[in-house]
Amino acid sequence: MTDAAITTPRLWLRPHMSEDAAFMVELSNNSQVTRFTGDGPLTLADAQAILASLQEQYATQRAGRFMVVERATGARLGFAGCKWDQDVRSFDLGYRLAPHAWGRGLATEAAAACVHYAWTVLGVDQLVAQVMEENVASQRVLQKLGFQRAPHLGPEMWWCVRAVAHGDGSGPKVVP
Ligand SMILES: CC(C)(COP(=O)(O)OP(=O)(O)OC[C@H]1O[C@@H](n2cnc3c(N)ncnc32)[C@H](O)[C@@H]1OP(=O)(O)O)[C@@H](O)C(=O)NCCC(=O)NCCS
Repeated sequence: MTDAAITTPRLWLRPHMSEDAAFMVELSNNSQVTRFTGDGPLTLADAQAILASLQEQYATQRAGRFMVVERATGARLGFAGCKWDQDVRSFDLGYRLAPHAWGRGLATEAAAACVHYAWTVLGVDQLVAQVMEENVASQRVLQKLGFQRAPHLGPEMWWCVRAVAHGDGSGPKVVP
């Protein structure tokens, strides 16, 4: 079980709760948000099934996508976190924010905290991420975190190796 809560200067990342289902539906049914993710709209029942899956991931892996909350307002903004990818045998970094939160460096802030969580709590040495070619904003987030393209892992795959991003032991390297 994870009761992890990650605090960053502007954000709070916490495990999803059953009360988050309606927000998950709203986020996933916004076509701006899913433009480059390949996901279709969700029903409330879909969201509840995802919540059950997330609870399982938190319990068995101490990982999973976390809810991203804005500390100043308490508002839910989206999600970020690491999820086990059996195909690549690595944790996969993912993030998604509501459009009103874009353009303020918040995805990078949330994702950087998740990378740090992966190195320090999950104890892994590499992470992967999958991004569509057209999704330049997401690619930029990954670049800022020290990720590189990894075509050997598959199309649209990126990866980050702890030795590169975490060389001095102080946390993920975030290039301003
Ligand atoms: C992708 C996403 C997470 C970015 O969130 P964000 O909070 O705006 O990201 P940040 O502000 O931390 O960083 C975005 C970077 O991309 C850059 N960027 C944004 N749009 C861009 C564009 N069209 N072309 C080039 N660069 C772009 C920004 O300038 C910024 O880089 P900078 O700091 O060097 O200026 C957000 O747009 C989102 O949730 N999109 C929908 C879901 C999604 O695509 N998730 C990722 C799936 S792989």
